[in-house]
Amino acid sequence: MPRPDRPMRLRRTSALRGLVRETRLSPADLVLPLFVKDGDGLRDEITSMPGVYQLSVDEAVREAARAGRLGVSGVLLFGIPQHKDAEGSAATADDEAVQRAVRAIKAEVPDLAVVTDVCLCEYTDHGHCGFLGTDGALELESSLPQHVAAAVSHARAGADLVAPSSMIDGVVGAIRDGLDAAGFGHVGIFSYAVKYASAFYGPFRDAADSAPVFGDRRGHQMDPANAREALREAALDVDEGADLLMVKPALSYLDVIWRVREAFPDRPLGAYHVSGEYAMLKAAAERGWIDERRAALEALTSIKRAGADIVITYYATEAAEWLSEGG
Ligand code: PBG
Ligand code: ZN
Repeated sequence: MPRPDRPMRLRRTSALRGLVRETRLSPADLVLPLFVKDGDGLRDEITSMPGVYQLSVDEAVREAARAGRLGVSGVLLFGIPQHKDAEGSAATADDEAVQRAVRAIKAEVPDLAVVTDVCLCEYTDHGHCGFLGTDGALELESSLPQHVAAAVSHARAGADLVAPSSMIDGVVGAIRDGLDAAGFGHVGIFSYAVKYASAFYGPFRDAADSAPVFGDRRGHQMDPANAREALREAALDVDEGADLLMVKPALSYLDVIWRVREAFPDRPLGAYHVSGEYAMLKAAAERGWIDERRAALEALTSIKRAGADIVITYYATEAAEWLSEGG
């Protein structure tokens, strides 16, 4: 008669649990998103994202340095322009907040990876991710060159990676060609390959002031009901030259993270724990309904366990601090 297995033996002490832990979350896995704008000494808190701010470039450098000191690997920059128009022309300007923040962070925190979000929705007056055709849908021919120009401008400022987030067909290939032609063959592409049309982006759109004035993004972002289609999206981006892949959001899509990890074992994979996911934890914690530290670390660990190598999260600095104290 075989004896019954007793898994509890290995859970008896913290040391034993540590010994058999399968997934380890470390500060180096994390990337911190930052919202940057013009001005000096500005830290304007975003109401729906406690602890997250719209920052002037000088303050963004301080946030980046703090994250870097705690072992966070990178920052992901979003810009809030002073001026919006139909073409999102500020997105391609070398002296805009994102471009200046890239230069300042690379100069003052050189060990941090600097990633820039490449999209037009923060820069267009209509809030859509590209140019609109007469039917109100995104028009590829005109939108792609503007994405390329933004990416090249970020590369010129010194970005290590550019992260196209618009889910417009062909954007990765167009940016790869554009970067290469401009002499930026060394700049990598962190593609938002699998991005769903999600309600969990709500707080971000307050933060970045990028909500569409009319309509929504369901014509280009993925349907939350689809998982097999994620593999098709990821394969396209790999063919077009993506160096890293991303799934977004994270927690409602752990199965998708797992599938992409299995299908593309040789690609670094990131997952974006998005604004709504962050806001839910903060809101419940503020009411005393959950233990924030444990819940946040559990959420971030589950994203790694599902197969992500990199977790993009507004919790990056706080989580790195908690991890340095032993989790
Ligand atoms: C821009 C962009 C969005 C996010 C990242 N890049 C919003 C959107 O697609 O509407 C969402 C990030 C978050 O919610 O934290 N295309
Ligand atoms: Zn967009």
